Amino acid sequence: VKDKFAAQIEAASELRALDDIRVSALGKKGEISAMMAGLGKMSIEEKKVMGPALNGLKRDIAALIEARKTVLEDAALDAALASETMDMSLPVGRAAGTLHPVQQVMEEMAVIFSDMGFSVAEGPDIEDDFHNFTALNFPPGHPARDMHDTFFMKPDADGEQKVLRTHTSPVQIRTMLSEKPPIRIIAPGRTYRCDSDQTHTPMFHQVEGLVIDKGIHMGHLKGVLMDFVSAFFETDVDVQFRPHHFPFTEPSAEMDVRYERDGAAIKIGTGESWMEILGCGMVHPNVLRACNLDPDEYQGFAFGMGVDRLAMLKYGMPDLRDMFAGDTRWLSHYGFDP
Ligand code: PHE
Repeated sequence: VKDKFAAQIEAASELRALDDIRVSALGKKGEISAMMAGLGKMSIEEKKVMGPALNGLKRDIAALIEARKTVLEDAALDAALASETMDMSLPVGRAAGTLHPVQQVMEEMAVIFSDMGFSVAEGPDIEDDFHNFTALNFPPGHPARDMHDTFFMKPDADGEQKVLRTHTSPVQIRTMLSEKPPIRIIAPGRTYRCDSDQTHTPMFHQVEGLVIDKGIHMGHLKGVLMDFVSAFFETDVDVQFRPHHFPFTEPSAEMDVRYERDGAAIKIGTGESWMEILGCGMVHPNVLRACNLDPDEYQGFAFGMGVDRLAMLKYGMPDLRDMFAGDTRWLSHYGFDP
């Protein structure tokens, strides 16, 4: 009996087959269990011999099965490992991401302005009408509210309708209401307008600037912005200030920089053509009053510029929409090491 089972166990090539053998030998209805049951009918003399013999047989068979089981399990593990090997020579590529060009450019701007004594301020992306429009001297029902292609939120329980801020100018209001002059801040952040084409995305970025102090005049505004563009484009940049209109500044202007085409690329600084890059002006007396400042005591200037377009100009990207498409090839090409 032992030799028969030993041979079967040795021949078993799968754990399943081995278990069948265990059942047929040691199971309740198995052969060895049947032999044990036969002990009852034996004489005392026979029992003395057969009892230990059968127990020994049982132990031996169990041990053989256990040993074979270990062998088969090891083999199964080896097979699994062999089929799941990793190719250690395969390059895994760059695990680390890069700084988005917009983030990079906002940081470059913060460095330039901090050298001029500005600190960074922030406000919420979801604004109320007061900060985004009213305090900035947009009269109720003024068409400029529509011109901004505003994203309006659903009115809340009190009937108040918030907006996605259409510009970073509401941070001017928040700053003037929470800090005492002298104020010298920039406010980088996301802005939103319901607009999308080759040169517009519904979400874009601006950097706002605000200076409030006694005796501030337009010469300060021009000096700061001229120094800024030359530092930003890392070359002497010729600029012009063109009269413009914003409700929250008076007088208002747009600043243009000279540029020329160099093949497909655009070179900023010199050339025949002008390109508008920012809006600016002296803070309107109504805005100062809305922030509890006396226009006879304090004056100031403000400016706002589109970060995405300045990033495109500085780093030569052809299409604004690529900025926010989330294509990792574009991101690793134009991204910056953090
Ligand atoms: N908020 C204006 C815009 O989004 C820009 C601006 C800012 C103009 C500050 C003047 C002063 O177009």
